[in-house]
Amino acid sequence: MKFTGSHILSIGQFERADIDHIFRVADFMAPFAHRKRVTRVLDGAILGSMFFEPSTRTRVSFGSAFNLLGGDVRETIGFESSAIAKGESLYDTARVLSGYSDVIVMRHPQEGSVSEFAEASRVPVINGGDGANEHPSQALLDLYTIKKELRHHGRELDNLRIALIGDLKYGRTVHSLCKLLTLYKNVSVTLISPQELQMPGEIVEQMRVAGHTVVESDLMEGSIGHVDIAYSTRIQEERFATKDEANLYRGRYRLNQAIYTRFCEPNTVIMHPLPRDSREGANELDNDLNDNPNLAIFRQADNGVLVRMALFALILDVEDQVDKYASDVNWYTGSRF
Ligand code: CP
Repeated sequence: MKFTGSHILSIGQFERADIDHIFRVADFMAPFAHRKRVTRVLDGAILGSMFFEPSTRTRVSFGSAFNLLGGDVRETIGFESSAIAKGESLYDTARVLSGYSDVIVMRHPQEGSVSEFAEASRVPVINGGDGANEHPSQALLDLYTIKKELRHHGRELDNLRIALIGDLKYGRTVHSLCKLLTLYKNVSVTLISPQELQMPGEIVEQMRVAGHTVVESDLMEGSIGHVDIAYSTRIQEERFATKDEANLYRGRYRLNQAIYTRFCEPNTVIMHPLPRDSREGANELDNDLNDNPNLAIFRQADNGVLVRMALFALILDVEDQVDKYASDVNWYTGSRF
């Protein structure tokens, strides 16, 4: 695809070569994301960051990625701080904010809303999550993480064995990830969820058409024994009619160290898009996994900055100029990466 000036709305717009390209640029961003170097390549550029649903990682890592490239961020958080609360349409909001920004990232609770916004925008728009539909940048960082983690185990994305666990009906990250996996060969996908929260049929069908083996189960322990990746998800309680309905499923699947030791292969990598629900009664990924070296959830979150820097560099066509505007850092950076 041509990245320059493009919206990033759905995983369906990518081909495998595009993913390779994004990952190459993400690798190149490591010294900048890891505070070894700074670049001012986007000096003067403005990111419009519009989050109409709660977010920690997506909002802050998109903002950090833009800052790390030298650009500025203008945020709108929540409907109540936007003129949408006074009845302004997405069309008008898009026309106005695209006059103030060079690129916009948006999260919205309604499926299709970010695409509707992008149609009216005069600048590229990135989907930061639209309802239960898609979260394409999360899928990119998830796959980037899987690739990096598997490299240590001598495995690749082709022939991947992955289990997705939890709320597969409303979890937009797993929808986008499954679509992304259709670009690879011979993937074995185990979908573990309550019957009522199964992966949408059309996404299962897309994976089968791609030649993947797809198994659906409502049992976790017996289904995670032979996978490279165990990818846990939270019950998306904000998508249910009531909290009581969500509570029927919270805590149904709890991966902890004892279950991991008993049922998983020794090098199974544990992932989660986060936030994990650490409240009593949920705990889909127990805190007793925190010292397990195969728990990749925080490396996964760190990788979000690399991948999002890559998307900005490609969309704004500065991929080849990052070094030209780079210098060493002046401050103490520690050893957190
Ligand atoms: N993974 C993810 O989308 O996290 P946030 O909701 O914190 O952005």
